[in-house]
Amino acid sequence: MKVLVINGPNLNMLGVREPKIYGSRTYADLEAKILEDARNLHLQVKVKQSNFEGEIVTMIQKAYGKYDGIVINPAAYTHTSIAVLDALKAVGLPAVEVHLSDIEQREDFRKHSVTVAGCIAQVAGLGFESYREGLKKLKEYLEMTM
Ligand code: DQA
Repeated sequence: MKVLVINGPNLNMLGVREPKIYGSRTYADLEAKILEDARNLHLQVKVKQSNFEGEIVTMIQKAYGKYDGIVINPAAYTHTSIAVLDALKAVGLPAVEVHLSDIEQREDFRKHSVTVAGCIAQVAGLGFESYREGLKKLKEYLEMTM
């Protein structure tokens, strides 16, 4: 099973960025952890990051026909991006939305996700483990449907 993991804006700043919320590990650490989890789950995973909404839309579009599913942390675009939602709906690939922090327990503007409507599930608040849970949920879903 081939899975594309997409990380949105400012996640490349992990380690520097608000460590009380996001921890002290870096984006490189996150990437390594995702790839290790993927190996353990016997998934073929590619990890990408972008700070640009349109680039994320293009990544989702290009996943069509190439990947079986998507794990996405749209970061701030979670709360604003109808374009990312539309792209997820357009390709129709099963997607799981993940967040490092528990967006339900933060500022009001983070409580609502626009993009989750294009996803089969959401995992939030588990730090790096959110990605492992997201990959697991996606794998279970693909096993049931493929
Ligand atoms: C985030 C939560 C978002 O609200 C925020 O804009 C991010 C990171 C998370 O992983 O907790 O950039 O998606």
